[in-house]
Formats: sequence, structure tokens, C-alpha cells
Amino acid sequence: MYNSKIMGVGSYLPPNKVTNHDLEKIIDTNDEWIRQRSGIEERYWAPKEMGTVDLAENASLEAIEKSGLDKSEIDFIICASISNDADIPGTGCFLQARLGLGEVPTLDIRQQCSGFVYATFMANQFIESGMYKNILVVGVELQSRGINKTTEGRDIAVLFGDGAGAMVLSRDDSGDSKVIASDLHSDGRFAKELWISAPGSCAGREDRLNKEIMENGEHFPYMNGKVVFVHAIKKMSQTVINVLEKAKMPKEDIGCYLFHQANLRINQKVQETLGLSNDQVFNTIQKYGNTTAATIPIGLADALKEGKIKRGDHIIFAAFGSGFSWGSILLKY
Ligand code: UT7
Repeated sequence: MYNSKIMGVGSYLPPNKVTNHDLEKIIDTNDEWIRQRSGIEERYWAPKEMGTVDLAENASLEAIEKSGLDKSEIDFIICASISNDADIPGTGCFLQARLGLGEVPTLDIRQQCSGFVYATFMANQFIESGMYKNILVVGVELQSRGINKTTEGRDIAVLFGDGAGAMVLSRDDSGDSKVIASDLHSDGRFAKELWISAPGSCAGREDRLNKEIMENGEHFPYMNGKVVFVHAIKKMSQTVINVLEKAKMPKEDIGCYLFHQANLRINQKVQETLGLSNDQVFNTIQKYGNTTAATIPIGLADALKEGKIKRGDHIIFAAFGSGFSWGSILLKY
């Protein structure tokens, strides 16, 4: 069995910064409500000229450059996103063409906010088994184009941001770096507590998408915020406990906990539940909002740039989101 090493990490935020005050101009909301309820101060929304693949490409190029590898050495791409350029195919294919990676296989996964945790888990399995050597793992979202940016959609519109993060995960024979433990879960009984029902082929519909569906706003995300909030705290805390137990490591041995960023209050409660110090957690929601599958790799890139993570450190990725799906990965960087 081989081990995985993070060779390079990159991130990209599109040019348009949108502050809470900017949102006050288009939605009946206010800076105080958004800060108090979510912790968010600003986020980035991509300009019309950019698509999901553009964000993914920029983050990927940085990750590949930092890895020191030639892009021709990438032998697999796993791309996590729920806001792709097209309904089909997924962003992985567009990204592969953009990067000029010939016929390298791509796999798109849509596991919502847990997408990057699932993608990392899968990439590690392929590396441990010897199947692939250098995998480009991407989390990318362009959510701003799919949310209801009117007062009707304000409970969701103010929370989401666009961005991308990418990581090159490679086979490492030294054993210095590795994924030590992982813990994945889902519970589909809660699927409709946070979902976008259209385009979709559910029973009773004539079309996946039509005028009537759009008039009903079924193509916009729906979230039962309070139910999601409560479960996010409980499940994200539990998955961290599970992964620490699997690794037989005390919580103090983890240098950096990278939690999904959906709400600062969720993460503060998780931190309190687990008894973690401020030094151990790294929150980015204030600057970027909730960037769904891109959140953890963007946080990873920032944490590395700020020197919060160094070679040899133990880190945990943990996420919770629509599905419900959640999980965590404990690795030695
Ligand atoms: O990434 C996927 C996982 N997502 C999450 O984990 C999100 C989980 N949920 C949450 O983060 C929170 O539930 C929210 C931030 C979405 C909402 O916070 P809340 O404290 O649960 O607020 P609420 O839904 O109870 O709304 C309170 C009030 C309502 O008004 P009334 O009925 O009390 O008069 C809302 O209409 O706030 C109103 N409201 C807003 N007011 C100003 C809702 N959205 C807004 C807004 N600006 N943007």
C-alpha cells in the first residue's frame, strides 16, 4: 500500500468582491443581520465573463505549479462541484480540456459541502491502491449564478460565495506524509431539508425544467436553516471525534482543523463542543462566505500561505452539508 502526500495547493477567488453593504442595495437585508447570524462580511461573485471552469483552472494551475510537477504527470482528476458550467458533462471534463491533459480520466462528484472531503477520500484510495500517482483534486463553485438574489431568497443569497481550491495529491513512498484516517456518512432522510429540486426528474413532473417550475422558484436552493444548523453542529463534532478515535490521536495533536464554512456560529459551537483552542481552528467565512465544495481547499491554501500549516503537521478536514452528507479526513501534511 502506498501513502498520499499533498504536493501543491492553489486557490482562486473571482474579481468581484461583494460586501454586506452591497447586498443591502439589492436585497432587504443588513450588514448587522448577516454578521450576527453567519459571521460573513464579504464574499466574491464571479463576473458574467467567467464560468466555473475558469475558477477551477486558475486554482489548478497554482496547485500544479506549487507541486513542482509537470502537468503531464497528472494522471487523474477528481472535481467536486454542485454549480457546474453545464448540467452535463461535469466541470472535470471541461477542466481537463482547458489544462490540455490529453485523455486523462476525470471524475465529477457532487457531494455538496462535503464534496472536497469525499474527493480527498477517493483520491487517497486510488493512490493507496497504486492505481494513480498524481491526482488533481478540485473543489469549485459558482453559486452566485444559481441563487435567488432577491429579498425572497435572502436567507440563502447572503450566505454563498464563488471560488475554487485545488490540491495535487501524489504517491509518496517515504511515509512522511499520509492520510491516517477518514470517516464518511450520509443520511438521505434529510435530503429535502437543503436541496435544489430542478432541473430534476422527480415523479409528477412533465419536464426536468420548464416555465412553471421556474415560476415556482424550484430551480433555486431551498434550506430549512434551523434543521441544517442543528445537525451541522452535531454531525461535524461527531465525525471529528470518530476520526480521532480511528487514528488513536488526542485532539491536541492536530495542528489545524479545517471545517466547512457555512456559518461562523456553527464552527464556534463545534470548536466549543470539541474543546479546541483558537489556534487550532482556521475560519475563512468572514471573507468568502460559504463556497460549498471549494471551502476546504481555499482554507487549506490560505492556511498554508499564512504559515498555519507546516510539513509534518497533522490536520483535519471536516464538512457537513446537503444530503445530509458529512465526514472528515485526518492526514499528516
Ligand atoms: O453549507 C450547507 C450547510 N448550511 C448551513 O449549515 C446553514 C445552516 N443554517 C444557518 O446558518 C442559519 O439557520 C441561517 C443563517 C440560514 C439563518 O439564521 P437563523 O438564526 O436560523 O435565522 P432565521 O431563519 O430564524 O431567521 C430569523 C429572521 C426571520 O424573520 P422573522 O420571521 O423572525 O421576522 C427571517 O425572515 O431573519 C429573517 N431573515 C433575514 N433578515 C435579514 C432571513 N434572512 C435574512 C436576511 N437579512 N438575509
